[in-house]
Formats: sequence, structure tokens, C-alpha cells
Amino acid sequence: MSRLKELRKYVDAELNKMDVTDKRTSAIAHLYGVSLAATMIAKKRGLDQEIASMAAMLHDLHAYKTGSYEDHAHKGADLAREILGKLKLTDEAETEMICSAIYHHDDKLVTDGPMDEVLKDADVIDHCLKDASKTVKEKEQARFERLCKEFGLLG
Ligand SMILES: [Fe+2]
Repeated sequence: MSRLKELRKYVDAELNKMDVTDKRTSAIAHLYGVSLAATMIAKKRGLDQEIASMAAMLHDLHAYKTGSYEDHAHKGADLAREILGKLKLTDEAETEMICSAIYHHDDKLVTDGPMDEVLKDADVIDHCLKDASKTVKEKEQARFERLCKEFGLLG
């Protein structure tokens, strides 16, 4: 089994513990949506697609498990470190890269490292494109416009 598949199996089991069906469905859709977007963005930028996708699968898990978004990025990074330590799918440098991306992913108005930026951008792509009729959040507007330019989405 690939490591991404193995991680997804773990995340799926965690998400399946959520008892509100609507919330569970949107959690699954969001993590898989961000995971796909992260792979695409990492490929375009010559970065590790697997690590990007793994970070995306874990990035909001803390919020889903606890039902709270308070400091969810920082707490989510701690949770990811715990999970990756248990699953032993990544080496130290990869764990750092994943946890750093999760730690910074809510800081949409600042620029961090290349993999941190992949996760932020993937999150924004999912927020903005899963329902194009919705208004783009103000803090995501500039980033979404940059992404549209980068990917030639000029419609
Ligand atoms: Fe997210």
C-alpha cells in the first residue's frame, strides 16, 4: 500500500467517528479536495506531490475531531506530528515539512516556505472552487487571484 493510501485509511477511520452526517461529508470532501489541489500545485511548482497531499489529508483533522477551529492550525500540527510518529510513514525531514505546512496554513495573508504555500493555496482552491457561486472570502481574495493567474484560470 502506498503511504498516501495508508494515511488516508487512518484519516478515513478518524472521520468516520464524526457522528453528524453533514459535517462528516463536508470534512471528507474538503480533505480530499485539498489533497488533490495540493498534488496539482506541488507538481506545477516542482515540489514533492506526495508530501503535499499527505499534509492536506491531515490539515484540518484537529478541527474535525474537536469541533473547534480555535488555533486549529497550530494544534493540528501537533496532532499531525503525533499521528505521523505513530504511523511511521515519513522520515524526520518529511514530518517537519508536513507539520510546518499545517502549522502555517491559516496564515493566508503572509508568505511562508514553498510547501507551506502549497497547502495554503490548495485550501484556498478548495474553498473558492468547490462552489464558484459563493463569494470569495476577503482574506483569500488576493491569493485566489494569484492562483488564477498562475494556472491560467482567466474565465
Ligand atoms: Fe482547510
